[in-house]
Amino acid sequence: MSDSPSGTPRLTRRPEWTALEDHRKNAPQPGLRELFAADPGRAERYVVHVGDLRIDYSKHLVTDETLALLQELAAATDVFGLRDAMFRGEKINTTENRAVLHTALRAPRDAVIEVDGENVVPGVHAVLDKMAAFADRVRSGEWTGHTGRRIRNVVNIGIGGSDLGPAMAYEALRPFTDRELTFRFVSNVDGSDLHEAVRDLDPAETLFIVASKTFTTIETITNATSARSWLLNGLGGDEKAVAKHFVALSTNAEKVAGFGIDVDNMFEFWDWVGGRYSYDSAIGLSLMIAIGPDRFREMLDGFRIVDEHFRNAPAEANAPLVMGLLGIWYGNFHDAQSHAVLPYSHYLSKFTAYLQQLDMESNGKSVDRDGNPVDWQTGPVVWGTPGTNGQHAYYQLIHQGTKLIPADLIGFARPVAELSDELKAQHDLLMANLFAQGQALAFGKTAEEVRAEGVPEEQVPHRTFRGDHPTTTILATELTPSVLGQLVALYEHKVFVQGAVWNIDSFDQWGVELGKVLAKRVEPALTEGADVPGLDPSTAALVAAYRNLREV
Ligand code: F6P
Repeated sequence: MSDSPSGTPRLTRRPEWTALEDHRKNAPQPGLRELFAADPGRAERYVVHVGDLRIDYSKHLVTDETLALLQELAAATDVFGLRDAMFRGEKINTTENRAVLHTALRAPRDAVIEVDGENVVPGVHAVLDKMAAFADRVRSGEWTGHTGRRIRNVVNIGIGGSDLGPAMAYEALRPFTDRELTFRFVSNVDGSDLHEAVRDLDPAETLFIVASKTFTTIETITNATSARSWLLNGLGGDEKAVAKHFVALSTNAEKVAGFGIDVDNMFEFWDWVGGRYSYDSAIGLSLMIAIGPDRFREMLDGFRIVDEHFRNAPAEANAPLVMGLLGIWYGNFHDAQSHAVLPYSHYLSKFTAYLQQLDMESNGKSVDRDGNPVDWQTGPVVWGTPGTNGQHAYYQLIHQGTKLIPADLIGFARPVAELSDELKAQHDLLMANLFAQGQALAFGKTAEEVRAEGVPEEQVPHRTFRGDHPTTTILATELTPSVLGQLVALYEHKVFVQGAVWNIDSFDQWGVELGKVLAKRVEPALTEGADVPGLDPSTAALVAAYRNLREV
């Protein structure tokens, strides 16, 4: 594959890339035991601080030389140049010709960030203020439903970025939520999702938030239409009820009005906010109602701390840069296919699912910015669930399987304040597990150590742990709104760094289009038995089997 027309060398032909390949193949590859024995100081030296986060990357298969070579790759691929272009509002999402300005969503009121010559910051704050006024009215009971009853249930209907962010953050910040209100998140076009969400709710006390950037997403519009019927059936059919029970979060006022939602009840955002980067925009309205506007602003402050760090910290102490480069080291030079994110906090139970969209929709690409196929690996499979549950499920494979799976372990020094003393006391056990896993993954257990325990020889191989499984440990004092914002921004920018090095557009998502188009085309074959032209033989047989089974 030739270099790009602009003369930029292909990634794999850059001397900084081949230097890393040489380093991987030809330099000694000490394991973590040797690395720590030779340099115990790495435990303190390989730590970066950002805001309230302490990020320890000492348990990685890297030396000072590896890190220096990775930094040279970042410099050669001009990661910071693209970063600055993003913060300036340049249209770095080239395939959609859009600016990428989720950072403007948390910019201070007096910041000036221009898109097409217009400062977008006043608009951001106008929407935040409108959201705050609305959230306060719902929380205080001043906003009432059609029959005059106060709102007690909030149902967010959205999918992808219009669901995962608010649902994750609501879960993460539960201790900060108004416990008198019930929140539900409906995303799946499977009618059971909406059914289960509303079956025990009173329509007179229920507010639906229809969240969709485009307001054309079939799942969301279908669920919103069904929710509208449920509401009207429950309230006697008066169409006027919709205005008191439905609000919209969207960039598309025309479609919102077309659906029958008063545009006064629409909270706007903009095409320079990607769906997976949007929960700190109007898409976070359900969260703001749950935690209140002040806490929401604390969360935005947390995002901003990491934005400023990413923008200003020197390369070697720049947390998103270091984390992004470590991922590149494993994905591109160790053939690692996946990356596990393992939070030791039950409140972060949806965090990894949220990161899956953030990372995999952003960097799941196989052509570069010029449209040439890449001949290097791009985004990893991101997966994981909270510890300690995962330890009793799939950690076996991480410890003793054949795959290299770098992992992030995330934990907090304090449990949440509202736990009983007895439950608080469990926190040390939780964190002991986090530290123990990091240690076991890194240093394993040698055959000699196993033998020294008197284990019969035939069992020694089974009880030996190779070790050398790299982990990053992220610690903070507690999971506050600000810390959540810091964590999310950290991963946003990590994903950015990797996309920049790989020279891919991390901000489009054409790959989800084909399935959407085909689903629309196939549906009449299911509903009406229509002859769908171009249906391949395998799918046609499946559709026929489905229709037969349905009739049985
Ligand atoms: O899955 C594709 C996608 O376009 C995501 O990028 C987006 O977050 C999701 O659909 C929902 O889109 P919308 O907010 O426009 O309904």
